Amino acid sequence: MGLIRQHTNLYPPVVRWAKNEKLIDLADTAVIFYDFDILDNRLAYLRSVFPEGTLHAVAIKSNPLKSVLQYIGQQGFGLEAASLEETILANRAGLPADRIVFDSPAKTKAEIAYCATHFNGLHFNANSLEELDRLPTVHHLKVGLRINPLVDPGSPDVYNVSTAISKFGVPIHQWDDIIQALVRYPFIEGLHLHIGSEMSRLDSHAQAVKKVLELAKAVTAKRKANGITQTIDWIDIGGGFPAQYANGPQRDLTDYLHFLQKHNAELFTDYRIITEFGRFVQAHTAWLVSDVEYVLQSGASLPDVPIIHCGADLLLREIYQPKGPVHQIAVLDPLGNLKHEDTWPVHLAGPLCFAGDYLARDIELPRMCPGDQVVVADIGANSFGMWSRHCSRLFPKVIGYSQQRGEIRVIKDRERIEDMLRFWG
Ligand SMILES: Cc1ncc(COP(=O)(O)O)c(C=O)c1O
Repeated sequence: MGLIRQHTNLYPPVVRWAKNEKLIDLADTAVIFYDFDILDNRLAYLRSVFPEGTLHAVAIKSNPLKSVLQYIGQQGFGLEAASLEETILANRAGLPADRIVFDSPAKTKAEIAYCATHFNGLHFNANSLEELDRLPTVHHLKVGLRINPLVDPGSPDVYNVSTAISKFGVPIHQWDDIIQALVRYPFIEGLHLHIGSEMSRLDSHAQAVKKVLELAKAVTAKRKANGITQTIDWIDIGGGFPAQYANGPQRDLTDYLHFLQKHNAELFTDYRIITEFGRFVQAHTAWLVSDVEYVLQSGASLPDVPIIHCGADLLLREIYQPKGPVHQIAVLDPLGNLKHEDTWPVHLAGPLCFAGDYLARDIELPRMCPGDQVVVADIGANSFGMWSRHCSRLFPKVIGYSQQRGEIRVIKDRERIEDMLRFWG
């Protein structure tokens, strides 16, 4: 099956649809649209390329909208939580504990005890050997241990979590200590790895899985020698597959699976697989529409500066971090039609009182005036969860739609002033 992406031609009819349904009012200077058809396509794709029985636990941090989590759960998928708060969010979104995977490098004793009491069957990935000592002697968690395989995923530095100084997982060179711990704690039934996001070296990921499978075999052999029958039953291979922000087709998972199968045939036959993709599932599901409030013009040959209603508060990584995702941008006229003509260089500015708040600099866009709208594509991953309170602006309304089912509705209301006041105490 093919992977679908947003298309600029889709923006005008969907905005009109929302307006006709009276879902947008004057205070909605910025609105986020969420496309459930694209989510369906990504989920179905994952299901089609991995073996039956794989638990795809979509990383909540990539998109924590409760309606989206509910939907993922209703389709029989799982969720990966990076904090106790996300674990509770997943549970409130209707997911049974055995479809939630809890990873965090900072689990407190109280949080661990809470999970053991409230979430029978939760997949609980311990991040360190020390954390194993905090587990109660009696519990019904499905415990895994995160391993750092020490390979280079070819990710940008801030997303590479498989280095020697990573805070994630037990470095695999502590081989003997790991095996001893897994004999001491015979209830451990899984091994986990996640080596980085936006991976460019898929062969490295396959090498990482290979190392972890060798470890799993060594553990099972040592346990057997000690009269322990519990084997390593599942391998959680993490997330990290990239999204495609530039124009052009999305890279599919075929290469990734090809390497996995070539180096790790037994992963597909001897173990249950868990995945934790975030960005690959979510990046293309959402887009932002913002009013153009002003267009500053500094001189005949200088770029225009249109000011819109979301900036570094929503696209925090993109704006604060060099080499973050570069989003495609489109412009709608006051009637909601795409503008193509009369392009001009612009610095596209966000609304925050901070000199760096630019979504893009020196890009050519159709010349804008107040009353136009700007669309920022592919904001479905790592935007909402990064929302920043700098300048205390309100989180925009989110409208979810499915063209296939002919459904459109508000899935998250625009924040209210009271919400902001409550946040600041
Ligand atoms: C443990 C873990 N799993 C999964 C993910 C999701 O990664 P991605 O969105 O790159 O697929 C992350 C991201 O930080 C993570 O830390």
